[in-house]
Amino acid sequence: HLCDIAVIGLGVMGRNLALNLNDRGYKVVAGDAFPDVVVSARAELEPTVTVVDTPIDVLKHLKAPRTMLVMIKAGDPVDALIETFRPHLQPGDILIDGGNSHYHDTERRQALLEADGVRFVGLGVSGGEEGARHGPALMAGGDPDAVAAVSAPLAAIAAKAGDGAPCFGTFGPGGAGHFVKMAHNGIEYLVMQALAECYLLLSGPAGLEREAMAETFRRWDETAASSYLLEITAVVVDEVDTDTGRPLVEMIKDSAHHKGTGRWTVEAGLQYGVAVPGIATAFLARALSSRRAPHAASLRRLPPAGDAALIADDLGKALPAVMLAAYAQGLSLISEASKVNGWGTELATVARTWRAGCIIRAAMLDPIADAFTADPELTDITLSPLAEEILETAERPLRRVVAAAVADGVPVPALANSIAYLDGLRAKRVGANLIQGQRDLFGAHTFERTDKPGVFHHEWPVVS
Ligand code: 6PG
Repeated sequence: HLCDIAVIGLGVMGRNLALNLNDRGYKVVAGDAFPDVVVSARAELEPTVTVVDTPIDVLKHLKAPRTMLVMIKAGDPVDALIETFRPHLQPGDILIDGGNSHYHDTERRQALLEADGVRFVGLGVSGGEEGARHGPALMAGGDPDAVAAVSAPLAAIAAKAGDGAPCFGTFGPGGAGHFVKMAHNGIEYLVMQALAECYLLLSGPAGLEREAMAETFRRWDETAASSYLLEITAVVVDEVDTDTGRPLVEMIKDSAHHKGTGRWTVEAGLQYGVAVPGIATAFLARALSSRRAPHAASLRRLPPAGDAALIADDLGKALPAVMLAAYAQGLSLISEASKVNGWGTELATVARTWRAGCIIRAAMLDPIADAFTADPELTDITLSPLAEEILETAERPLRRVVAAAVADGVPVPALANSIAYLDGLRAKRVGANLIQGQRDLFGAHTFERTDKPGVFHHEWPVVS
């Protein structure tokens, strides 16, 4: 009785995906390189899932084409695993890398294995442990035949959106799947930073206590900003520390870590020349959070309490616009990378794939997907009628909260950056004409004119 698919790497994600596949009727064999992990996985998974002693042992349990879902730490371990497997693989075998791998690594690995006739699919997996067990969002990229060959089990285990569609998307050849997952994480960084700033304003100037704060986040989850990250924010701020009786969030050290995908998103933005300032800001805010003055809290008193209801009301109304800016930046980046690399990634499909299972799932993704379907030429959601609709109620409140926060010395880089992004794209004038004038003066870099076609150079007065 050969198995349909193997899961390699039996950390909690691998185990849960193995169980999820089994629930959907796929016979699974699983292995891990660490003997202690094999022992505990065996206790948890057998007899439902066959657990073998080493990763390579899965091969003899698989029917052709032998399909292996690899759920190990991104980076060197993936290359090491490929080296171990290479001599034992046959043409037609399929390796699926479900880690947060850099899309360049995925493309390098695809090229390496292609020489052996082995197919390598880069699969973005989002949704954490719960998602893996009951339905993640899955973002695939690679050779179209290979992706087609594995799409049935992946669609089966994926989360289902409200309309029943599986959150499994195919985004093109090469590293397209991992690129979409990377951009997903960039958006995740920005929305999380924005929510952290909301928390800061609610606890500082608005002076809300734990329960009122949780209630406020829960109330916002009933609006256009409704999303998983908002839902978990309410849970995080509501939790009480059993040791001290204080809100647990207040006992957590105020400096954030990261594992790289946010930085990669910013690097890709720079490489492709796509402005992702909010994502960059969110990434840099994490870096800054570890570099603050040692006694920051005592150096600076919190601003006096403002009108709690007003601040909360404005923030709640502003949030949909901030989220829109986050999705706009991630999706614009995907659009440009797809164009440059010839991936053919459809933004509507990306937005639909993110509707359930993943960390950035949100009510807003339905209308975002519809906007891209309605206008396939659209590359930035900020320029759609949907944006007009959202900004109608969000714009003024967002300006008010940012202005008040800046006046009070509360750092709100993500909120401030979101309004700057929206203004940068929508403002009638941005001052770039002056920059062109400066460039032409000091370097004869030329400029275009508003009144006639062509490229011009002006003889500016000499400045010594
Ligand atoms: C997901 C998450 C997941 C993970 C990130 C967090 O989609 O399930 O994005 O991939 O939580 O790696 O990244 P940082 O550790 O960099 O915050």
